[in-house]
Amino acid sequence: MGKLFVLLNIIPIILTALVLFNYYSVIDGVCSRYPDENPKICPLLGHTGHSIEKPEMTALKAGDSFPEGIEFNYVPYTEEKDSITSCGIPQKYNASKEFADKKVVLFAVPGAFTPSCSVSHLPGYIKNLDEIKGKGVDSVIALSMNDPWVMSAWGKANGIKNDNILFMSDSGIAFSKSIGWTRGADRTGRYAMVIDHGKIVYAENEPGGDVTTETTMFRFHKALDVITLFHKPSVPASLRVLTLLKQVSAQASETATEDQAADHSHQNKLQRTEFELNITEDPPTGDQMRTILEYMGARHAGRLVEGATDSGDAIKKLGENPKTFRPPVTVDWNNGRAVAGDNESEIMKMIAQLPIETNSV
Ligand SMILES: *[C@@H]1O[C@H](CO)[C@@H](O)[C@H](O)[C@H]1NC(C)=O
Ligand SMILES: *[C@@H]1O[C@H](CO)[C@@H](O)[C@H](O)[C@H]1NC(C)=O
Ligand SMILES: *[C@@H]1O[C@H](CO)[C@@H](O)[C@H](O)[C@H]1NC(C)=O
Repeated sequence: MGKLFVLLNIIPIILTALVLFNYYSVIDGVCSRYPDENPKICPLLGHTGHSIEKPEMTALKAGDSFPEGIEFNYVPYTEEKDSITSCGIPQKYNASKEFADKKVVLFAVPGAFTPSCSVSHLPGYIKNLDEIKGKGVDSVIALSMNDPWVMSAWGKANGIKNDNILFMSDSGIAFSKSIGWTRGADRTGRYAMVIDHGKIVYAENEPGGDVTTETTMFRFHKALDVITLFHKPSVPASLRVLTLLKQVSAQASETATEDQAADHSHQNKLQRTEFELNITEDPPTGDQMRTILEYMGARHAGRLVEGATDSGDAIKKLGENPKTFRPPVTVDWNNGRAVAGDNESEIMKMIAQLPIETNSV
């Protein structure tokens, strides 16, 4: 009788403990992947901070080459399969190969149909599709971790019943992982990039927080015309170039504002494209230097890197000692041009060759 009594009391305690432990391990698992998903509970289990982010060592930036061996999966749109429930057959998309001869805008979101992505991200691109295509963009790609069928349905649900935007799956988030731009353990991050004939001309990752359509489009819009000045404040020539670029950039944005306000009766006025001026005091990376040398020609290696005789030598010397880099160097990643030094007429010529904005009004 006594033994049974003890047993009857112990069983519920064991069961409760098991349930609690099970609950704990589920929550713990969720928290370890998405610590910012439940800010009240997760810190109690020792999981703080944002989703696990890899160091951005491999993150992409202007001047980098789009990596080799990148593959996505998608269901090509066909008219006969335009209803959301029809499936289609997923195909591989060899991004590294396709991007080599195209101008591509790629934007990634943590998931199809997730509220903030659908509300604020995709519609911005849909709304501005004409403007984007008007800039000579061949493909716009929406990327996420979902499978190709979900991505395809997401596109159709948003009224994209053509191939103006390709909805693709970063299967196993292989690509996003390789560049360190992920959310949690299994989601693609929220990022955008512009790739021109295999070269990155813009790449931005949004760490945490929501991105409004305006921010994204503003960034994107600006992104199409980025000019980077590799600057060193202690070099007088570099300061001259900095002043020049700042002046021109300010003038250009004034002109753009006037143009938007006024009617189109001042067409003979000197028009300049607004561009994003990116000033960096870091020397170029090896990959960026390779790109700059491609733009300028290997014979100019010595103007870019102290004592360099050719491209290979320049990259080697720069790698051994970043101080061998000779600022200022001004680079237009979008149109593949670079100017070493402070020759004003060369720099102005480069800026004059930026494509003129066309108002789509
Ligand atoms: C993608 O294309 C490149 C270039 O043609 C090729 O070398 C590579 O093997 C392709 N990748 C796959 C997975 O087919
Ligand atoms: C400017 O360019 C450098 C070098 O490419 C890059 O690391 C940096 O993120 C850029 N900054 C902005 C604001 O675009
Ligand atoms: C600047 O570059 C132009 C065109 O390359 C050249 O004709 C001119 O002599 C250069 N000016 C200076 C001061 O080096």
